[in-house]
Amino acid sequence: MIYKDFERKLALIESALYTPFKEYVQGQSEVAQAMRYTLESGGKRIRPVLTLEFAQCCGGNEEAALPFACAAEYIHTYSLIHDDLPCMDNDDLRRGRPSCHKVYGEANALLAGDGLLTLAFGMIASADLSAEKIRRACAVLSRYSGIEGMIGGQAIDLYNEGKNAGIDSLRRMDEMKTGALITAACELGCIAAGADDEQISAAREYASCIGLAFQIKDDILDITGDTAVLGKKTGSDGSNDKSTYVSLLGLAECERAVDSLTQGAVSALGVFAERSENLRELALYLAKREK
Ligand code: IPE
Ligand code: IPE
Ligand code: MG
Ligand code: MG
Ligand code: MG
Repeated sequence: MIYKDFERKLALIESALYTPFKEYVQGQSEVAQAMRYTLESGGKRIRPVLTLEFAQCCGGNEEAALPFACAAEYIHTYSLIHDDLPCMDNDDLRRGRPSCHKVYGEANALLAGDGLLTLAFGMIASADLSAEKIRRACAVLSRYSGIEGMIGGQAIDLYNEGKNAGIDSLRRMDEMKTGALITAACELGCIAAGADDEQISAAREYASCIGLAFQIKDDILDITGDTAVLGKKTGSDGSNDKSTYVSLLGLAECERAVDSLTQGAVSALGVFAERSENLRELALYLAKREK
């Protein structure tokens, strides 16, 4: 258990994630099955948990924030389905099962990703929150998951293959491809709760630190991790000739960077005082994770 309330939040998220799929049950198309397949393969659900934690920290209602939390996980899951495609990282194992395209074919995997992306915005629109909060949530999710965020970072990642990228370019790439969606997840929780500017900027600082740390740790685990635990094949970055923090700085330096970013994240929580204990625990867990 990561911290006391983690499992309960996870259970709320798990059931909410499948709500839209009940409507697709009758004559479920292969694409709907493919969407559900990768969603239900597992995953740590870090992003939706972050949404709920920030909603709680800022005094919001957890139930009301759930659609925002699901939206973050839909975008993330779609990014993984597309990331594994042969035209991207060409990985055959994801969340402990064959990647979406290995089971449903490339065209269905492409559409399943598109389906999850589209569903994310529908889910936000369905939230029982004010029109202004819904508008802001759409703007934030679109910005951080789009060309200025996750998509932009994925493009840099592909462009950098086989090149010797410098540390500034790698940092930018990691902040965009991974940090941005993590920031969106945190900010969505703040928006749902009606957080003030000081709280939102603290959430951004926390997210920016754990977001970069998360990708550096992912790159470390690609070398030191165990495929059976990770649920995805190790050595993927090396075989794709990726430029990563680890390929540039080495493992020891990267472990130090993860630790110092984690300390930065914990410091950013000061404005929330003891209400942020779960977020502190989560940051510490992420730095030490094995998967
Ligand atoms: C993997 O993310 C991809 C990155 C952005 C590094 P996660 O490690 O959160 O993957 P799941 O959701 O647990 O499968
Ligand atoms: C993924 O980075 C970032 C995404 C936006 C999906 P990676 O390509 O390193 O993620 P994994 O290791 O395949 O999960
Ligand atoms: Mg990738
Ligand atoms: Mg990958
Ligand atoms: Mg990786």
